[in-house]
Amino acid sequence: MNTLFSQLVLNWYHENGRKNLPWKKYINPYNIWISEIMLQQTQVKTVIPYYEKFIKNFPNIKILANATIDHILHVWSGLGYYSRAHNVHSTAKIILKNYKGKFPNNFIDIVKLPGIGRTTAGAILSFGFNFHACILDCNIRRILLRYFKLHEHTAKNSEKKLWSIIESLTPIHNSNKFNQAIMDLGSLICLRSRPNCKICPLNKKCFYFSKKKWSTLNPITTQKKISKKTIFFLIILYKNLIFLRKNKISTIWKGLYCFPIFSNQLEILEWIKNKKIKIKNQKISTTFIHKLSHIQLFCIPISIQIKNLFSINEVDKHLWFNKNNPQRIGLPSPIKKIINNTSHF
Ligand code: ADE
Repeated sequence: MNTLFSQLVLNWYHENGRKNLPWKKYINPYNIWISEIMLQQTQVKTVIPYYEKFIKNFPNIKILANATIDHILHVWSGLGYYSRAHNVHSTAKIILKNYKGKFPNNFIDIVKLPGIGRTTAGAILSFGFNFHACILDCNIRRILLRYFKLHEHTAKNSEKKLWSIIESLTPIHNSNKFNQAIMDLGSLICLRSRPNCKICPLNKKCFYFSKKKWSTLNPITTQKKISKKTIFFLIILYKNLIFLRKNKISTIWKGLYCFPIFSNQLEILEWIKNKKIKIKNQKISTTFIHKLSHIQLFCIPISIQIKNLFSINEVDKHLWFNKNNPQRIGLPSPIKKIINNTSHF
């Protein structure tokens, strides 16, 4: 075990770490699990208000398991990566059914739950149960790659290697403090771009710092391929009601409610004709870009005000959203924004 490494990280944490995180106030496996799922692809400062709202709405596993997915997605709306919300719901139901509502306390059972991998299981055991466990999230991975001069994409077995390194660095006692400390170090100092090496407690022996070649030695060079797509939102307004459809699980914004989406204007015309919709007014608004993790959406909102409610024989779930008495459903952030601006049509 490299005690110097862990001691330096712990000393730094003592002075500089984040100790007021809301999920560390009333520690229990449930709260830690929710926070760790939210933190999987999202930064701490973004997660905090969502976490607080979530715990207020669903304070324990039983309440979460018995909630509707629409309510859960409503609270999750804006946080993104909505499969996490579906997984959280499935997991709560499994725990209620198979573990009498008590979060399992061993790695083998935890890692089988939907949405929980080795790192999240480690974080739950470490932070939620105070058991000795190791974590290897992207922040910790970056520190190790830089410190030990490992090149991510050249080492075929790098994953195995990195786990064995972090296992050797994680102290037996105080491992939960060390885990939090090294995560904080990764997200506050050893940043993806422009790391703050001058004040890093590990800089004396860090390979990356010794070479001072930030760009060439940055191991995190793999850029995700982002594709582009144009979509049309058909915003159908009837008096103060807005037509929304529930998105399928296989598409973006899984299970959230959205305006009908089309890939071209011809499709829209056909759909309107099919439904025998009588248009009173129409407007095309300015295109805006909405970025998702893997795709850049060029969104063109087309609003139509209709004369009569049309008959709906859609297979998909749908509803007329009432802005004055909003239903409790999941709404993607661009949809929410458009809805909030529809009054001036
Ligand atoms: N990322 C994932 N888990 C985290 C935690 N507990 N604290 C800070 N960042 C994290």
